[in-house]
Amino acid sequence: MSLLMAPLPLMFLLMIPGVYGQYWGVRYGYSHICALKDSSVIMRCTYTYPTGYRIRKVFWTKTLVKNADNEFPDLSKDPEYSQRLQYLGDKQQNCTIRLSHVTQKDEHKYYLRFITDKPVGKWLGEAGVTLTVTDLQVEAPERVTEGDSVRLTCKSSCALTDRATFIWYRNSQPLTERRDGNNQLLLQSVRREDAGRYSCALHGHSYISPNPVIFISPSGEIMEGDSVTLSCSSDSNPPAEISWFKRGMFVGSGRIYSISKISSDHSGEYKCKSTNKYGEKYSNAVTLNIMYPPRNVSVSINGSGEVEEDSVTLICNSDSNPPALNFKISWFKRGMFVGSGRIYSISKISSDHSGEYKCKSTNKYGEKYSNAVTLNIMCELKMFNNCDI
Ligand SMILES: *[C@@H]1O[C@H](CO)[C@@H](O)[C@H](O)[C@H]1NC(C)=O
Ligand SMILES: *[C@@H]1O[C@H](CO)[C@@H](O)[C@H](O)[C@H]1NC(C)=O
Ligand SMILES: *[C@@H]1O[C@H](CO)[C@@H](O)[C@H](O)[C@H]1NC(C)=O
Repeated sequence: MSLLMAPLPLMFLLMIPGVYGQYWGVRYGYSHICALKDSSVIMRCTYTYPTGYRIRKVFWTKTLVKNADNEFPDLSKDPEYSQRLQYLGDKQQNCTIRLSHVTQKDEHKYYLRFITDKPVGKWLGEAGVTLTVTDLQVEAPERVTEGDSVRLTCKSSCALTDRATFIWYRNSQPLTERRDGNNQLLLQSVRREDAGRYSCALHGHSYISPNPVIFISPSGEIMEGDSVTLSCSSDSNPPAEISWFKRGMFVGSGRIYSISKISSDHSGEYKCKSTNKYGEKYSNAVTLNIMYPPRNVSVSINGSGEVEEDSVTLICNSDSNPPALNFKISWFKRGMFVGSGRIYSISKISSDHSGEYKCKSTNKYGEKYSNAVTLNIMCELKMFNNCDI
C-alpha cells in the first residue's frame, strides 16, 4: 500500500456497504467546516484497514511535505496546536479530534495519517477536511428613518457548519425573543427607542459567560502584610475584559488583581465584572477579611462626673482581627494580674485601688498592652458627690 495510491473518492467509500473494515480508507464527517472564530471545531473521522495489521500511530497533519524522519508532521506536536487539540477517537477506527479557539490562522486543510506495524501499512486520508474560520458581522441598511421596516442580517463569510441559532443584542442586552435559526432580525416600523448598537452571536458559541468566578490566593486566612492575588475566571467568548470593584467602586482591570503587602484597609467585598461585546456579568462578591494582631489598645475610664456610686469602670479598647474575646483581655495592676474581660469594675473604691492599670489584648496573631492609666482614688473621688476627704 502506498500513500500515493489514487484515493478512492470519499463518496464512493461511503456508498459501498461491506467495504468498511476490509480496505484502507479514511472517512471524514465533513469535507469543509466553516466555524466561528474562537469556537471549538470537531472534525469527525473514522478509518479502516485490512485485518492482520496493527495500528502503531494515528495523527493529524496539515502539511503534505514530509519532515526529516520521512513522515508528515504531527499536528499535536505543533506548539500552535498542541494546547488546543484534543484527540477524541480511539485507537481502533475513530479518529475524531476537537480543535478549540480556532482563528483565521487555522484555515488549512487537515489530513488523517495512520501507521501500522508493517512497513507498507501506512495511509493518508488525502481527501482531508478544509477549515474556514469566520467572524459575524451585522449588515444593516445605511439609512433608517422612523417608520421604516428594517432587516438586519448576521453575516458570516462562509455558511456555518453547525446548526446555528442566532441571538441578537441591542446595546449588549439580549433580545431574548429573537432566538431562531434565521440569521435575520426584522424590525417593523422602527421607532426612536429601537436605536442602538446591534450585534449578533451564535447561541452556544459567542456568548457572555456564566457569571465569572473569583479565586483568591493564598487560600485560607490572610494576614496583614501578605501578598494576595485575586483572579477572575470568565468563560466568555470572545474573551472578556475584566474589571474589579471594591464595595462597588472601580479599583482596577485585568484578569488578575494583586495586592502586595495587604493591610486591613483592603478588607471588604470584591467583585469582578466580565464584559464583552455581548454583555457584561458580575461575579458573586468575595469578602477579604484581613487578620491582624491587636493594636491601638487603650484604657478609658467610665464614670467621669455622673457616677452615683463609689465605683469606677475601666474599659479596655482594642482593635484586632479576629477581635479579642472577653476572656482574651486581661487586666494588670502594677504588673499583677487582677482580672479579665473588656470591662474592669471597681466598686466600693478605697485608696487601696490607687495605682497603675494596664490591659492586655490577645488574639491568635499576637498580644499588646495598653499604656498605663493611673488611678489616684483620692483625686478621682473629688469628682464624686459623696467624696469626703
Ligand atoms: C467517534 O468519537 C466521537 C467522540 O468520542 C463520537 O462523538 C463519535 O460518535 C464517534 N464516531 C463513531 C463512528 O464511533
Ligand atoms: C491605630 O493604630 C494605627 C497604627 O498601628 C494608626 O495608624 C491608627 O491611626 C490608629 N487608629 C486609631 C483609631 O487610633
Ligand atoms: C459608662 O457609664 C454610663 C453612665 O454611668 C453607663 O450607662 C454605661 O453603661 C457605662 N459604660 C460601660 C461600658 O460600662
